[in-house]
Amino acid sequence: MNDLSLAGDLLDIDRRHLIHPLHHPKDHAAAHIFESGQGAMLRTADGREYIDGLSALWNVNVGHGRRELATVAAAQMEKLAYASAYAGFTNEPAIRLAERIVGLAYSNMAAAYFTTGGAESNESAFKFARYYWKRMGKPDKVKVIARSYGYHGVTLAAMSATGLAGYGKMFGPLVPEFLQVLPPYPYRWPGNGDAGIGAADAVEDAILAQGADTIAAVIAEPVMGAGGVIVPPPTYFPRLREICNRHDVLLIADEVITGFGRTGRWFALGHWGVEPDLMTFAKGVTSGYLPLGGVLVSKRIHQAVEDAPLDEKFMHAATYSGHPVCCAVGLANIDIIEREGLVERAAVMGQRLQDGLQTLCSLPAVGEVRGLGMLAAVELVEDQRTRKPALGLGGRVVAEAMKRGLILRQRGGNSGPPPSGDSLCLAPPLMTPEATLDRIVEIVGESIVAAAG
Ligand SMILES: Cc1ncc(COP(=O)(O)O)c(C=O)c1O
Repeated sequence: MNDLSLAGDLLDIDRRHLIHPLHHPKDHAAAHIFESGQGAMLRTADGREYIDGLSALWNVNVGHGRRELATVAAAQMEKLAYASAYAGFTNEPAIRLAERIVGLAYSNMAAAYFTTGGAESNESAFKFARYYWKRMGKPDKVKVIARSYGYHGVTLAAMSATGLAGYGKMFGPLVPEFLQVLPPYPYRWPGNGDAGIGAADAVEDAILAQGADTIAAVIAEPVMGAGGVIVPPPTYFPRLREICNRHDVLLIADEVITGFGRTGRWFALGHWGVEPDLMTFAKGVTSGYLPLGGVLVSKRIHQAVEDAPLDEKFMHAATYSGHPVCCAVGLANIDIIEREGLVERAAVMGQRLQDGLQTLCSLPAVGEVRGLGMLAAVELVEDQRTRKPALGLGGRVVAEAMKRGLILRQRGGNSGPPPSGDSLCLAPPLMTPEATLDRIVEIVGESIVAAAG
C-alpha cells in the first residue's frame, strides 16, 4: 500500500470502527499505519522508516521479517492448524516446546502450561498458586502480593496485581486479595538503606500483617518493564526468595518481558542465582510472530497436579492452550535465538546501549540511566540534585524521537509509591546492529535536548 489517499481512507475507517489498547482519540490523531518490518526497522504506509526501539511491545526479540517463522507457521497450519490439547489429546509442537522451555529455564522447573499471552499467563499462575495450596490442605492461602510499578496485564486479576494505577482507574473495583508493596527502586527509595533489602522486607511485613496462612504467592517481574525498567539491587531477589521460603509463600517470576534473552540470559532471575516456583512468559517466546504465553511450574507444583484425586483435578480449560501453530513458531523462534547467539549478543550489545545512554547523564534533564541487557530506561528530572520528577517531558521526548525516526515508549511519572518522573523505555530487538544502537542513543539525546529546551 503506497497510495496516500488509501492510507487516509484506512485511518478514517480505523477511527470509526477500531478500538485500540490504551485508547484515546487524542492519542490517535496522527496515527501511523505500519506496513512492513525488517530487522530492527519498521516501515509505515507513507514510506517512512523507524528504528523499533522497543521491539514493538518488548516482544520482537529476533527482529522483524523472519521468513523462516512464516514458513514454519504455514507448514504447521497446512498439516494441523488446530486440535484440542485437553487431557486425552495432545500435539507434537506443544510437547516439544514444553520440553524445550523447561530445559532452558530454572533447574527446578518441571512442566509448562500454555496460554495466548502475558495476562492470561499471570492469571493462570495465580490459579496454579491457589490450586497448589488447596491441594496441600491450606485453602486459605489465596492472597497475592505484588509491587507498585509492576505491570502484569489487562485481565481483572492481572490488572489488580498491576501497580500502575492508571490501568485500573476506570475498571474498578479491583479483585480482592491482591495487595501492593514498595518496589526495589533504588533511585527513588524513600529510606536511607539498601532498596533491595528494604523492598524485600516490605514483602515480609505484608506477609506478617496479613498472616502467612492467607498468602498464596508474591508476583514480581525480575526487572520491571512497563513500570520504567526498574532494575533491583542484587540483594533483592535472594532475600525475597528466603522470605518466601520462610513463610511458605510461592514466588511467581513474571518473565513476560525478561524471558527469552532480553536481559542477556535466557531468564532473568539467573542474574541473582534465584529460582522461582512459577515462571510466566509470553512475548519473546514467539518474538510476537503469533500470540503465545505460558506458565512454567516447579516440580512440587507439577506433582500436586499429577497426584490430584479426580475430584480435585486441574480445571483450567483454555481453548488455545498448546496451539500447534503458535508452538511450532515458538520452537523455530528459539532455534533462531540459539543459532544466532542472541542471548549472549543481548548481554554484549546491551552493555553498549547502556554505556551509550550513560553519556546522556550530562544533560540536565537526565536523572538516571538504568538497565540490564537490551532493556534500558532514562528517567527524566526537573532537577538532577533534588531528583524532582519531570512530568510531561517524557511525552514530548517520545514525539521528538518519532520525528527523528525512533520509536520508544515512556512510563509517565506521577505513579507510585514512591513518586517518580517520566522514564523513557528502550528494548530494541536482540539482533539490532551496533550502528543502529548508537543511532538510538544519539536520537534519544537530541530528542531530550529538543523537548527540554
Ligand atoms: C511483565 C508483563 N507481564 C504481563 C504482561 C501482559 O502481557 P499481554 O499483554 O501479552 O497479556 C506484560 C505486557 O506488557 C508485561 O510487560
